[in-house]
Amino acid sequence: MQTCDTPFGALSLGRYPPTRNPTLQAFDAADQYLLQRLHEDGLGEQPILVINDAFGALAIALAKAGHRIHSWGDSWLAQRAMQDNLQANGLDADCVQFIDSQSLLPEHYQQVLLRIPKSLSLLESQLRHLHSRLQPQALVLAGAMIKHLPPSAGDLLARYIGPYQASLAWKKARLLCVRAQTDLNPPTSELNSHYPLPDTALQLHNLPGVFSRNQLDIGTRVLLPCIPRDLGNARVVDLGCGNGALGLFAAWHNPEIQPTFIDESYAAVASARKNFHQGFAGRSAQFLVSDGLTEVAPASAELILCNPPFHQQQVIGDEIALRLFKQSRQVLAPGGSLLVVGNRHLGYHIKLKRFFQRVEQLGSSAKFVAWRAWR
Ligand SMILES: C[S@@+](CC[C@H](N)C(=O)[O-])C[C@H]1O[C@@H](n2cnc3c(N)ncnc32)[C@H](O)[C@@H]1O
Repeated sequence: MQTCDTPFGALSLGRYPPTRNPTLQAFDAADQYLLQRLHEDGLGEQPILVINDAFGALAIALAKAGHRIHSWGDSWLAQRAMQDNLQANGLDADCVQFIDSQSLLPEHYQQVLLRIPKSLSLLESQLRHLHSRLQPQALVLAGAMIKHLPPSAGDLLARYIGPYQASLAWKKARLLCVRAQTDLNPPTSELNSHYPLPDTALQLHNLPGVFSRNQLDIGTRVLLPCIPRDLGNARVVDLGCGNGALGLFAAWHNPEIQPTFIDESYAAVASARKNFHQGFAGRSAQFLVSDGLTEVAPASAELILCNPPFHQQQVIGDEIALRLFKQSRQVLAPGGSLLVVGNRHLGYHIKLKRFFQRVEQLGSSAKFVAWRAWR
C-alpha cells in the first residue's frame, strides 16, 4: 500500500494484481493533477463521472469526500483494484457505482474526470457516448502523463466535446480541460473493425479498445497453425482471448469443443462472444470477464491457449504472463497442456519450465516462438 496525497485527503492505495516491483505505484501525478483541478473548480451536488480510473485513486478520493461517483471503464482488473482500495480506505463497496464499458451511462453529468487511455479507438468510443451524456457547459478534465499522451487525444476531445485548453505540465503530467458544447455535430463513422480469421470462414469483429483490432497479431499468427485438430470434446480455454481468435480457430477445426473465453477487458469478451455466436449459431461456449483463471476450477481443462499480455496499462513486463502460467498449471487436468506464444527475446520456455516439466517448441517466426507445456 502507498499513500496518495490529494486535496480531498490522503488515500492508501494498492495495485491489483499485486506486484513484486516496489517502484510501481497505484496512482500517478496525472491522477493528483486531475483531483487538484477539480478541487479548484468546486464540487456540485450531482454524481461525478470518472472514466478509466486505473486503481481507483480518482473515484476513492471523491467518494471519501462524500460525493456520489460513477466509475466507467473497460478493465475488470481496474474494477477489482478499486473494490480492494475502497475497503482499504474504510469505504463501502457501493460508494462508487462501477459501469462497464459495454453499458450505457445512466445520467447526464456536470463534472467528468477522464484518464486518457492508451487505445485511441476506446477513447473515441467513450467520447462519442459521453457527448450525449453531458449537461451544457459540463466540465470535462482529461489527464495523462505527458509521455503517454497521444497527440490526437486533443483533436478527439475537440471533435466530440468542445475546444480544449491544455494545462501547464505538472510533475510530467498534463490536463486537457473542456467545457462541453452540446450543439456539436460529432462524427458518426464506424468504430468497430473486422478482418478474416485465416484458414476458416470466420470474421473477427473488434469493438473499440480490443487488442490487435486492425489486423491479426503476428504472435497469434504463429500460434494458430499449432492448435490441434483432433481435440474431440476436450475442455479448451482461450485465456486472454481478445477478439477470440485462438478459441474460434480451435472451435472451427474441432466441431465438438465448447470453449471458454476469458479476458479482463469487457470489450474483448463482448467481441469474442459476438464472433462465436456469428460463426457458430446454436453452439455453446462460456464467456468470462475475469482475472485470468481465478474463477476456473482446478484440473478442469485439457487445453489452454494463450498469447499472454506483456503489459498492464502502460507498464511492460512478464509478471502477468508468469501469473497466467502458474494459474494454467493448476487448471489443467493431468496430461493437459498450455499452448503459448511469445516474443523470442522473452524466453518463455525457460519461465514455463518453472511450472511444467515438459516444454516443446511447436513453431516460430523471426520474432515469435510457440511452445506447448505439458502438465
Ligand atoms: C496479447 S493479447 C492476446 C489477445 C488474443 N488472444 C489474440 O491472440 O489476439 C492479451 C489479452 O490478455 C488480456 N489480459 C490482460 N491481463 C489479463 C488478465 N489478468 N486476465 C485475463 N485477461 C487478461 C488483455 O486484455 C488482452 O486481450
